[in-house]
Amino acid sequence: MKLLKEKMLKEGIVLSDSVLKVDSFLNHQMDPQLINEIGREFANRFESESITKVLTIESSGIGPGILAAMYLQVPLVFARKRKSLTLTDNLLTSSVYSFTKQENYEISVSNRFLSSQDKVLIIDDFLANGQAALGLIDLIQKAGSDLAGVGIVIEKGFQDGGKVLRERGIRVESLAIIHSLKEGNIQFAEQAME
Ligand code: G4P
Ligand code: NA
Ligand code: NA
Repeated sequence: MKLLKEKMLKEGIVLSDSVLKVDSFLNHQMDPQLINEIGREFANRFESESITKVLTIESSGIGPGILAAMYLQVPLVFARKRKSLTLTDNLLTSSVYSFTKQENYEISVSNRFLSSQDKVLIIDDFLANGQAALGLIDLIQKAGSDLAGVGIVIEKGFQDGGKVLRERGIRVESLAIIHSLKEGNIQFAEQAME
């Protein structure tokens, strides 16, 4: 997606060979026009899939997720990372390992909002090692829902997540795929180039 890649080149800050900071438009301050186009693009790519729910994980997936859900005209459900005061029973939970933090955390959704009638599109901001996506897929399986695919804003192609998911036969649509962040430069992968 050209607009996204231009924004990444203009405002992204390469923190290391493996981490890109995008807090001026996606992870802290958010650009509504750009995220609107991101949501529209996900909806276009998955429009023939009869999706009934979009599923993401708090917090950075919620922006792209709500816009994708709006264009698909279905609800967005976001998995929670912390226990909620009011969301207490009927929880489906899964354990996710964070490579960055080197610890496990629990994610959960209420079984009231995911069922065997649902066909679910997962949306997230980043795909790195894929642990968050695998946790969401586990929640979908526990709910008995079908998985339509995974939509990712920025995939780090030099990490394993994309491979792990695609090898399972899962459709992964990434709007930008980073081939390398070496020497402070963002190099995009061929398959993501327009
Ligand atoms: P994994 O699921 O692929 O294993 O991811 P990992 O634990 O390595 O990532 C932890 C967090 O860091 C996730 O956000 C993920 O989206 C984010 N992340 C991973 N790589 C990058 C990167 O290069 N740049 C940026 N900006 N973020 C990255 P989170 O902790 O769940 O936070 P939230 O922002 O969704 O609240
Ligand atoms: Na995220
Ligand atoms: Na994040």
